[in-house]
Amino acid sequence: MNATIAMPLHTPPTLPGARPLVGVLPQLQRNPLEVMERATLKYGPLTYLPLPTLEGYVLGHPGLVQHVLVTNAKNYVKQTRGYDMLRLVLGNGLVTSDGAFWKRQRRIAQPAFHRERLAGFGEVMTRAANEMVESWEPGKPFDFAAEMMRCTLRVVGETLLSADVTKQADHVGAALTVVLEHLIHRTLHPLSMPEWLPTPTNLRFKRSLEELDRVVLGLIAERRKGGGPRHDLLAMLMESRDPETGEGMTDGQLRDEVMTIFLAGHETTANNLAWTMALLGRAPEVERKMVAEAKGVLGTALPTMADVHKLPYAMNVIRESLRLYPPVWSLGRRVVEDDLVEGYLLPKDALVFISPWAIHRLPEFWTDPLAFDPDRWLVEDPRRAHGSYLPFSMGQRKCIGDTFATVEAQLILTTVMQKVHLSLVPGQTFEPEPVITLRPRGGVHVVATRR
Ligand code: HEM
Repeated sequence: MNATIAMPLHTPPTLPGARPLVGVLPQLQRNPLEVMERATLKYGPLTYLPLPTLEGYVLGHPGLVQHVLVTNAKNYVKQTRGYDMLRLVLGNGLVTSDGAFWKRQRRIAQPAFHRERLAGFGEVMTRAANEMVESWEPGKPFDFAAEMMRCTLRVVGETLLSADVTKQADHVGAALTVVLEHLIHRTLHPLSMPEWLPTPTNLRFKRSLEELDRVVLGLIAERRKGGGPRHDLLAMLMESRDPETGEGMTDGQLRDEVMTIFLAGHETTANNLAWTMALLGRAPEVERKMVAEAKGVLGTALPTMADVHKLPYAMNVIRESLRLYPPVWSLGRRVVEDDLVEGYLLPKDALVFISPWAIHRLPEFWTDPLAFDPDRWLVEDPRRAHGSYLPFSMGQRKCIGDTFATVEAQLILTTVMQKVHLSLVPGQTFEPEPVITLRPRGGVHVVATRR
C-alpha cells in the first residue's frame, strides 16, 4: 500500500442479509450467481461480503478488475479455498499454480498455443464436428450439451495429446460431472465432512477422480513407451528441461499439467457451444444470418482454419454468447498485502471475487445487457479490452487457450449449421447451473433436420 495514504477514502457497502457467525455464506450457498449479480449491479463498484473467518469483496467495476488482474496482479494470488478444492483434481498445474513455478510452466506450454500451431488443429476440429453431425439421427431428440462435451474432448485429446479418447468420452464426462459438483459444494460448504472420511459423497468423488487419473496416466504411460516423434503439447512438456538443473518433469508434474489441459481445454468450450445453441434456438433471425454467411463464404464446403476470419458474424455470435453465459462465471483471488485501489482498501488476506457473469451485465457498459445481440460487436468499444469483457480473464493469468477455444467453437458451430437445422425440444428453461463452470442445467435438448 502507498505509505503516504493512511486512511481508505471509501467504505464499501455490505451486502445486506448477513447473519451472525455465518455472514452471507448461506446466500452464496443458495445462489452464488445471484449474489455476484446483486453485489455488482446493485451495490458495486465494491461490495463487502462478511464470511465466516474471512472478509470477502466483490469487485463490480472494470476499473477495479483491471487493477487486480493486470496492474497489480502480483498482489493477488490463487491461494483461496476455491483453488484449494481445484488442486484436489488438477494438482499444481497451470490453472492452480502461482509464482515462479507457474511462470516456468506457462513458458513451456505457450508455444503449443501460438497461432501457427493452431493452424494444424482446424482440420481435427472440423472433422470431429462433421463425424458427430453424421451420427445424429434426424427427428430423434438428443442432448446437444452432452454431444459438445464428447466432441471437444476428442479435439483436445487429438490436438494437444495426440490421443484418441473417444472411447473414454462417456466415462470422462460422467466422472467430471461428479468431480465438479463435489468441488463447488465443498468450496461453498467449508464445514462439510473432511475429505478423508469415507462418506458416500467422498467415496464417489474419489472413484471419479481415480477414473480421470486412470485416463490421464494411461496417456502419459502410452507415450513413455514410445510410438514415434510427436509435435504436440504433451511432447513439449515431456521434453522440457529446467534451465538450472537440467531435470525434466516428473510423472507427477506431467500428470497435473495434462489433467489441467484435458479438463480446462474441453469443458469450457463445450459449455460455450451448449449456451450458444440455447440462444440460437430462440433467435431464428440470428441463425438465419449465420447460415447465410456460411453459405456465402463456403458454399457447401466444410470450414477450414483459413475461413475463420471470413465468418465475422459467427465470431460475433460466439463473443455474445460468451458475454451472456461466460463458462467461467467467477474468479477468486487472495490479497497478499493491503492495497488501495480507487479509494478503497483491499486488506491483506481478504478474498476478492470478480464475476464475468455480473460484469457482462453492467448497464453502463452494455446497452440492453440481457439482449442476445451479436451485432453489438460491430461497434468497437475500447472499454471491452479494459475489464468490461473478460470471459477468458485478463492480464498474465489470461486463458492460454482463448484463440484455440474461439476458433474451435466457430468451426464446430459452422460445421453443424452447414449440415443441419437444430430445433429446441419445447418446454426447456435453460437455468444456469454454476458448478465450477456455468452449465445449462439438464442440458440443451434438440432435434436435427438435414439442410
Ligand atoms: C470458451 C472456452 C474457455 C473459457 C471461457 C476459458 C476461460 C478461462 C479463464 C477465465 C481462465 C482464468 C482462470 C483463473 O484465473 O483461474 C482460464 C485459464 C486457463 N485456461 Fe481457459 N478457457 C477456455 C478454453 C480453454 C482451452 C480450449 C484451453 C486449452 C486447450 C484452456 C486452458 C486454460 C489454461 C491452461 C488456463 C490457465 C492459464 C494460466 O494461468 O496460465 N482454456 N481459462
